[in-house]
Amino acid sequence: MQEDVYTLERFIEDLRHITADSADERQILSRVRPLAHRLALSRTWLRPEHYEADAEQGFGVHVLHEEPDHTPAVFAASWLPSRGAPPHDHGTWAVVAGVDGPEKNVFWERLDDRSHPGYAELRKTGEKVFGPGDVLAMPSGGIHSVVNESAQVSLSLHVYGKHVNHTERSKFDPEQRTETIFKVKLK
Ligand SMILES: [Fe+2]
Repeated sequence: MQEDVYTLERFIEDLRHITADSADERQILSRVRPLAHRLALSRTWLRPEHYEADAEQGFGVHVLHEEPDHTPAVFAASWLPSRGAPPHDHGTWAVVAGVDGPEKNVFWERLDDRSHPGYAELRKTGEKVFGPGDVLAMPSGGIHSVVNESAQVSLSLHVYGKHVNHTERSKFDPEQRTETIFKVKLK
């Protein structure tokens, strides 16, 4: 069924239409979700080098597509065994689709009133393991952390309303109650 292969190019074309049609995040998320699922499972875009991760960071971020103004952006992210990302937000909407291996997501809510720069109180609200084809859709402001508890490198497809190194976003330490700027290293 060659004609039904879903490619990164077709996905980008669909993304452009969706984000041009509406600025409503709920609409965008509900329309991007099934397409991210389809692209994740198609694996047409997947390359061996996407499994390369940064040992210091614990994960690897590979830019698959980025518009000149950074909106939207599509990454492949690989996660080393027993490593992950601290609680963070994205400064934009995010859709993450599992491609290879399990990734545990922990969800957090922010409790403080944001009146003290650098200070943040977080409470865990839930967790879920996402596998191949599972899709997580998060609106702006959503906070999660990620950990790969398996013995293999895991990989997922990430779609953001804007490249996350070009948004205002933070990482959090729930125990120290701190909020700091979060930038990722790109491969
Ligand atoms: Fe994230």
